[in-house]
Amino acid sequence: MDIFLERLTQQVGKPMRWLVKRLLEKRNIFLEMNTVKLCDIQPESVVLEVGFGPGLGLLEAAKRLTHPRGKLYGLDYSEYMHNVGSRRLQAEIQAGKVTLFLGSVEQIPLEDSVVDKVYHCNCYYYWPDLRAGSKEIYRVMKPGGLMVTTMNLEFLKNVVAAGLLKSTKWPPEPYMEVLCDTGFVDVRMEDKQDKGQTFQAIFAAANKP
Ligand SMILES: C[S@@+](CC[C@H](N)C(=O)[O-])C[C@H]1O[C@@H](n2cnc3c(N)ncnc32)[C@H](O)[C@@H]1O
Repeated sequence: MDIFLERLTQQVGKPMRWLVKRLLEKRNIFLEMNTVKLCDIQPESVVLEVGFGPGLGLLEAAKRLTHPRGKLYGLDYSEYMHNVGSRRLQAEIQAGKVTLFLGSVEQIPLEDSVVDKVYHCNCYYYWPDLRAGSKEIYRVMKPGGLMVTTMNLEFLKNVVAAGLLKSTKWPPEPYMEVLCDTGFVDVRMEDKQDKGQTFQAIFAAANKP
């Protein structure tokens, strides 16, 4: 459903976007919370979320960055989501703890090798070029940094069977191959459980000199 809704945001006017946001918040909070948890964010970490949508995962990540050096970046290519996230994280942005960018994953406005943890949730399916996105994430990551993404494969397969994910790159295997080609190591997908629900998490470590 959320993927279908994401497509809708590109096609519908303002009133419907609000509904899309509400449904994303309700549906995706489970995966967002779990993705943040799996990142093992430390108080001093520098963290980036790609495709933060309504920003619930950002709020959760920001709570964990309790040291003054801890910093959270968010990047989303939707102006609407950027505005929603900016309102939701207003206090953290004003405090300098969080910075949100409007832009696409192929051009992340950060210097090389500055981020410890990158996460994204229900997002890579929409990237115009998986390889370019993966290369750019790798570029901004510190050596040994961790990237995590999560999904519910069973749900995705049902969505695909219903014909709703046409022309997206949702299967995890090609994305994992691209991650390996880019220079990530320990690329693996694991089944995870929380509150009786199963989901999948892809982990990748930035292998850099
Ligand atoms: C299905 S929503 C998921 C939002 C949020 N992560 C969640 O799980 O609730 C996908 C989000 O990724 C963003 N997005 C899609 N492609 C992107 C790209 N190439 N670069 C940055 N953001 C992108 C969309 O604007 C949208 O906010």
